[in-house]
This record gives sequence, C-alpha cells and structure tokens, in this order.
Amino acid sequence: MKDSNINPIGVFDSGLGGLSVWLELVRLMPNEDIIYFADSGNCPYGNRSKEEIIDLSIRNTEFLLRKGAKIIVVACNTATAAAIKILRKKFDVPFIGMEPAVKPAAKQTKTQHIGVLATKGTLESERFQETKNEYAKGVTVHMQIGEGLVEIVENQQINERSTLILLQQYLQPMLAHHVDKIVLGCTHYPFLRPVFDKLLPQNVDLVNPAPAVARQTLRQLERFELQTKNIIEPKYEFYTSGNEEILESFLKYIQAK
Ligand code: DGL
Repeated sequence: MKDSNINPIGVFDSGLGGLSVWLELVRLMPNEDIIYFADSGNCPYGNRSKEEIIDLSIRNTEFLLRKGAKIIVVACNTATAAAIKILRKKFDVPFIGMEPAVKPAAKQTKTQHIGVLATKGTLESERFQETKNEYAKGVTVHMQIGEGLVEIVENQQINERSTLILLQQYLQPMLAHHVDKIVLGCTHYPFLRPVFDKLLPQNVDLVNPAPAVARQTLRQLERFELQTKNIIEPKYEFYTSGNEEILESFLKYIQAK
C-alpha cells in the first residue's frame, strides 16, 4: 500500500456549492478522509475573467496539496471550464472536474428540449460549447444564466420569497419550450431543490451531475491505487476564505437534511 493512500481527497469550489458534491463523495466512500475548501471570500466566480478563475483555482489547489490531498475534485463547473486543463498540466495529482450533465439529459429527453441553468462563465466557455455540440445533436438546449443564485445559496436565503420569484423568472422560458430535463450546471443549485420542487411540473426532472462525479472519483482512486484501507471513522475538514460561521451554519443545515 502506498503511503499516500491514507491521505485525504481534496475538494474545492468557489464557495459552499461544492458541498453538494462532498455529500455524494461521503455517501459513496464513507471511509475516505476529505478536505473541503470553500473560496467564499472570492465568490462568485461566474462573472470573473478566465485568468482570474485560473489564478484562484491554482491557489485553491496549492492549499489542498499543502494539506496532503492525494486527488483533487474541482467541485465547481465554472472553475473546471476555465482551469482544469491548466491544473492538470501544472500539478502531478489526478483531477476530477465537473461539467453540466448535457449528455444524460440529451439522451433521456422525450420532448427534445432540455434546459441548462449555469453561470455565465460556464455557459460562455469553450468547454461547454464543445460538450453541447458533441452530445446534444438533434436536441434544442435552452440556456439560462442563473444570475444571483450562487449568492442566494452563499447567504442562505434559499427559502425566501424573492428566491422563488427569481427562479420562476429563469425557469419560465424553458418551460414554455416544453423542456423535460433541466441540467443543474452549477454545484450551488442542488441546494435550491426545495424551490425547484415548488415550481416544476411533475414531468420535468432535474439533472445533477454530483453522483456521477463521485463515481468518477472512486474510479480514479481505484485506477491509481489510492483508495484508503481505513476502517476507523473518517476525518472531514472544512476551510473557507470567507466567513467561518456561515460555513458552520451551512454544514449544520445540510447535515440535518
Ligand atoms: N459552484 C460554482 C459552479 O459550479 C459556482 C460558480 C460561481 O461562484 O459563480 O459553477
């Protein structure tokens, strides 16, 4: 067994959204230690330049590597789109990225119309265009920038009436085109599920890539023989560049669910 097997999985996001991926990692690999870094002090990433997102992603990765991460999960669609190629070149650890789950949505749609809700950075990235061109042939993709939604999750205003109204504005044009799949192209958005549930008709499904990202992380750990043999309680550590109390209260909120 390699010494590094006992090291943690490192996860970062622009903020708290990547915790939707953390939840799936914990569910699938309950023995692995995980270190999570929320860059809430610099959140949101969505309207930043590609260069800025690359610099921040490098900083986040360096932080996790200093803490001994054996693999890095970029639990942020925006950072993946802007920076994953560079991260893979620069650092000698496996990286798992995330991107909007256009492929399964395009495969499963019956109406041939799917919606993608994501940040400006993700929707305008080359990577997203490539994914769309490759996997959504013959399907109409209705894209919507979720302006303000990341901040709503960061500020824990999920259940406020203004959130319902804003999300309704974003969903209405997609629903008017009879989408039956809506891809959650930002890791913050799964935390808005209770609000989506109030607004979506029953025949419309949300597509969250987080479980697939957790499975991909497991496959990579197996491939590089990096799985832990740990049978004692795993250790979870959380760091933020923002407000620690907000992180703690968010962790309590998601763990109580
Ligand atoms: N969770 C990030 C994502 O998946 C949010 C990006 C942002 O901070 O705007 O894209």
